[in-house]
Amino acid sequence: MSEKSTSGPVSEKINALRETLRHHEYLYYVLDAPEVSDAQYDTWMRELRALEEEHPELRTEDSPTQRVGGKPKEGFVKVAHSRPMLSLDNAYDEAELREWDRRVRELAGEETVAYVCELKMDGLSLALTYENARLVRGVTRGDGVIGEDVTSNVRTIRSVPLSISPARMLASGLPANFEVRGEVVLPMAAFQKLNAEREEQGLAPAANPRNAAAGTLRTLEPNIVAQRRLDFYAYFGLSESGYIFPQQSETLDALNAAGFRVNPKRALVQNIDDAWEFIAKADALRESLPYEIDGVVIKVNSRALQDKLGFTGRAPRWAIAYKFAARSAATQVQNITVQVGRTGKLTPVAELTPVPIGGTTVSRATLHNADEITRLDLKIGDWVTVERGGDVIPKVVAVLREKRPADTRDFIFPTHCPECGSIVVREEDEVDFRCINVNCPARLRESLLYFSARKVMNIEGLGEAVVNQLTERGLVRNLADIYQLDEAALLSLDRIGEKTAQSLLQEIARSKQAPLDRVLLGLGIRFVGERTAQFLADAFGSMDRLMQASTEELERVQEIGPRISMSIQEFFQVPANRELIEKLRQAGLNFTAEQKKISSKLSGLTFVLTGTLPTLTREEAKERIEREGGNVSGSVSKKTSYVVAGNEAGSKLDKARKLGVPILNEVELMELLERRR
Ligand code: IVH
Repeated sequence: MSEKSTSGPVSEKINALRETLRHHEYLYYVLDAPEVSDAQYDTWMRELRALEEEHPELRTEDSPTQRVGGKPKEGFVKVAHSRPMLSLDNAYDEAELREWDRRVRELAGEETVAYVCELKMDGLSLALTYENARLVRGVTRGDGVIGEDVTSNVRTIRSVPLSISPARMLASGLPANFEVRGEVVLPMAAFQKLNAEREEQGLAPAANPRNAAAGTLRTLEPNIVAQRRLDFYAYFGLSESGYIFPQQSETLDALNAAGFRVNPKRALVQNIDDAWEFIAKADALRESLPYEIDGVVIKVNSRALQDKLGFTGRAPRWAIAYKFAARSAATQVQNITVQVGRTGKLTPVAELTPVPIGGTTVSRATLHNADEITRLDLKIGDWVTVERGGDVIPKVVAVLREKRPADTRDFIFPTHCPECGSIVVREEDEVDFRCINVNCPARLRESLLYFSARKVMNIEGLGEAVVNQLTERGLVRNLADIYQLDEAALLSLDRIGEKTAQSLLQEIARSKQAPLDRVLLGLGIRFVGERTAQFLADAFGSMDRLMQASTEELERVQEIGPRISMSIQEFFQVPANRELIEKLRQAGLNFTAEQKKISSKLSGLTFVLTGTLPTLTREEAKERIEREGGNVSGSVSKKTSYVVAGNEAGSKLDKARKLGVPILNEVELMELLERRR
């Protein structure tokens, strides 16, 4: 038989099976309304697989058999977004929400504005690119400008269509090439299952479904991702020329018609009163939903109006996230223990009778420091209110005095490190006690965990279980020792097989390419966080230049004052630290960066802000001025270059007039910022 005569009917059969499977996937994963049994579905799938195996020439990327395909070998590739993925400004109460609405209406010049209300799913945002109605790419938000290509993992998410049928394309009105943005979430049930498994394996549980979803999406094994049952909810559609439809409500309907999961709990409302009602309903629903939400997103429905309103620095003016209050519960403090951090800081932790708060079980809560225990008047055995926000560690917010049992005990802060027994000290005007032993095993452990964290050197697989063993067995005595590890050393650890060892070594090798700011962050210099590390790398361009920097040079860098500059200099003076840096250099870490020039457009000019500006907040205005090299000061003098005045400006404006200091409104300020560009 010739090729052609067989492939005709076979390819028809294959196509029919694919259509059937896609249809039932849609019913099952998007509509939650299956019409056939799992067994029937599996039978069709097996049949299709067998046919495709016999006829590999008929295999296509969008076949339902191809959800788990190739995997990324060298980690994820960075990709620039077609348009930045912005974040949202928040409103925390009704007044803030109404103030936002007032501003929107004022800028729009309309009496009322129609809004779309959507649930704010607590996951991570993802951009999906479709070309010729086929999924070609899935990219995480990353920093909003550049994200990571996680396509092979995204393909495993059943509610993400791999391709969209011509009928659905027609019904939706979407163009052949488009981008969908939405939220990847891990449903509560999948989250609980995952944590139960982790516990069985002796691993620390994931803190919340969002972290678990983010971790899953960045797993290098697509078949693990496939098992985790992530879900995708679409909330945005874009095409090359911008938006596709004149209204957000239409966009959502179109995405729904195309076969995406769009949260059905949404509403088009005509004014803010109705939006407020939607929020109240959503809040009441919150506990009963199968996934976590942390608020409601309210978007201006009209696209034309969205354009007119535009953006502030990082967020659109036409949308706002109304955040629900943190959830809390009452429970009893069984004990108070003390944890040693990477800087030696001792943090008291309340060990609680486990209590469910919004779907996760909380058994520990931070007490921050000794003063906080005094402030709360907390004793061991007390009943307390524990609060859990979106991503923050649970905290004890109040003691329920009326429930105080008779047998409570005072907590006495230890005088010695619970880990190494060294004496602990509290420096003048500091709230924290510290273990001053630089070789304290707890400090080393925590430093390693911090160094390997995603936001720092991002060494996947170097988690608690491995770090504990490495330090206990003396295989790693400082950060640089990580780079000396070999396969034999890793294989000597419990629960590490060849495959894991290999991939960990690869991860370690890959981390050598991390940019200088991450290396600086990883050193764990006190007060040097993400932003400061970035500023330092930008300003000095190399480890060596930074190490030699004078106080003056350091303090010239954005946001760096005497406290930080002193900490940096102290760090580089310690011989052990210098040695560590040499070892890291020899290991081949990135010690140079491209030096960025901070704009000097407004350098030498001093601004004073007063009153309420129509669109910019005080912080935003300050940031913009500083970004262009200008200074912002709190009081008006003869040296002030400009006073920027908004509504209800008071004495500062009077003083400016008296001194003859030029006065700008917001528009004029913006012109100044733009003009000199
Ligand atoms: S719109 C420019 N809609 O919330 C508009 N975001 O705080 C950007 N999110 O990064 C987002 N549900 O990850 C939008 N229905 C929804 C959302 C939503 C959850 C997340 C999203 C975004 C974050 C902003």
